[in-house]
Amino acid sequence: MQTKIKPITPETLSEAKNIILEGGVVAMPTETVYGLGGNAFDDGAVQRIFEVKGRPNDNPLIAHVHSGYDISRIIDYDPPYAKKLREAFLPGPLTLVYPSTGKVSPYVSCGLNTLAVRVPAHAGAQAFLKEVDIPIVAPSANLSKHVSPTSAKHVFEDFDGKIPLILDGGECVGGIESTVCDVTGEVPVILRPGLITREMIAEVVGDCKEDKPDLTKAEKVKSPGVLYKHYSPRCKTMLFLADELEKALQAIADNAGLKIGVLCEEEKVTVLESLAVRVFSLGDTETEMASRLYKLLRDAEKECDLLIAIEPKKQDGVMIGVLNRLRKACTSKDVRH
Ligand code: TXA
Ligand code: MG
Repeated sequence: MQTKIKPITPETLSEAKNIILEGGVVAMPTETVYGLGGNAFDDGAVQRIFEVKGRPNDNPLIAHVHSGYDISRIIDYDPPYAKKLREAFLPGPLTLVYPSTGKVSPYVSCGLNTLAVRVPAHAGAQAFLKEVDIPIVAPSANLSKHVSPTSAKHVFEDFDGKIPLILDGGECVGGIESTVCDVTGEVPVILRPGLITREMIAEVVGDCKEDKPDLTKAEKVKSPGVLYKHYSPRCKTMLFLADELEKALQAIADNAGLKIGVLCEEEKVTVLESLAVRVFSLGDTETEMASRLYKLLRDAEKECDLLIAIEPKKQDGVMIGVLNRLRKACTSKDVRH
């Protein structure tokens, strides 16, 4: 199969729709990362997504809909605070997890009794979702465990020859995946941190909790995605805390024979550059760090044998999501195994 990258035009949207209606998958841009989309009602299409990605079959998918889509077609229980969250943040990088009604394919939720729904803000995603006018399940468009894609080129690198079409909507501005928030209980509970923070949610609805699962007890985990090694570049990695610069410098010295890259915030760049290693700067601000992280991890795997990452100093707000991804990227094995 030839994989085409095409800009979003009326013609390519119609081509994408035909592929979806025939049970195929299409990669689409969103404001967070690119997604690998298929018809949420079509068992075969949903299974195809798992197969193409090599995704574990216990990790559920998010259903994406356009902003005019009537979500009562796929969910019924909808607490008043969920409505407030939709009004405040959607379309945008917030996924809400509702009790499921069994309307979409059972393969979407992998046996959980919930359904995750997202309304992406990206104009290209909205145009595609309006064109098909059905919920599109879309995990990040990367091979399972690899770094999530923030450009059409990244998607092509992972799926060349495996999918027919990548809709090119430019580089993703958000850079890390949506915040996943459970709205099945009394108060919202964040299952995966992201650009919409706990503070932002609590400000709108008064309260918001964060799920901190005990990863040694897999059966109690609400969002199975948190169990896996993920977002990982294909080179060796080492991770140091923000105040461990000395240790990082020692690691550089100890590995002198390797092609080393260092990933860090902008303020440490000058010190590290003087050591003649390749430095990947995350920038200064939290939004900059979120938007650059995945591209830098993909650049690093191409240029280096070893990536030494140093955590940025700021660790609250959006940085909770950025650090969550960075730490998993630098984990050597699945938490579960
Ligand atoms: O920004 C995003 O959310 C991107 C773009 C493409 O929209 N999508 C994305 O999908 O990150 P994926 O499949 O890579 O991650 C979905 C996450 C996983 O951690 C999964 O476990 C969780 O959402 N999830 C999906 N359905 C769930 C459910 N019913 N209950 C709890 N967690 C769920
Ligand atoms: Mg993913």
